[in-house]
Amino acid sequence: MAITKPVALNQTKKGDTMEALRRKILSEGRVASDDVLKVDSFLNHQLDTVLLNQIAEEFYQRFASEQVTKIVTVEASGIALAVLTGRLFEVPVIFAKKQPQQKASDCQSETFYTADVYSYTKACQYQMVIAKDYLQATDCVLLIDDFLANGEAATGLMTILEQAGAKLVGLGIAIEKGFQKGGDQLRRSGIKVESLAIIDRMTKEGIVFREND
Ligand code: G4P
Repeated sequence: MAITKPVALNQTKKGDTMEALRRKILSEGRVASDDVLKVDSFLNHQLDTVLLNQIAEEFYQRFASEQVTKIVTVEASGIALAVLTGRLFEVPVIFAKKQPQQKASDCQSETFYTADVYSYTKACQYQMVIAKDYLQATDCVLLIDDFLANGEAATGLMTILEQAGAKLVGLGIAIEKGFQKGGDQLRRSGIKVESLAIIDRMTKEGIVFREND
């Protein structure tokens, strides 16, 4: 079935958004350690609304041929991009909530889908939860996030989609750290992963991006 999308976009040429994001990373990003890039000035604390909107439009264009009924992300930094993308698809956005890991009580597991996640970047274990009310087996879900590193958050969200019986359409990611395993592992398993800036190497001296496919 053909899906018509009535949204009017500021048609940017393919590559413009990737270039704008790369330039922003180079001018404002700070390599805090071998594997952590700080981008608080536009993505993780202060938000550059124009750039984020451009990124959302790029996600929209890359997934416009797919049927998407919900956008799913994790709190906190994924929410802004997810909302802007959801607005374009005209679908609801769900953000998984994080809580300290604990054994789900019976009452909790009746109400929530849950997944245990370990964050290598933050060296902590947490549980992500989504209320069963908001995710159905009929849903086709696009996952959106600001960063993709080891893929732990994405895998947690996918576990929750499986519990709900929902279909995964793919992942839209702003910045992928290509030297960590998440993105390539997900692609190898056949998942459509669209990352707008893939960093292959980074040191305090510089950042090297993966060439476009
Ligand atoms: P993974 O899901 O891909 O395995 O990543 P990991 O658990 O290691 O990352 C945990 C959190 O850290 C995620 O944020 C992720 O977006 C963020 N993150 C990962 N690498 C970087 C990085 O190099 N720079 C920055 N700024 N963030 C990074 P989160 O748990 O969603 O937390 P929040 O910051 O959105 O609240």
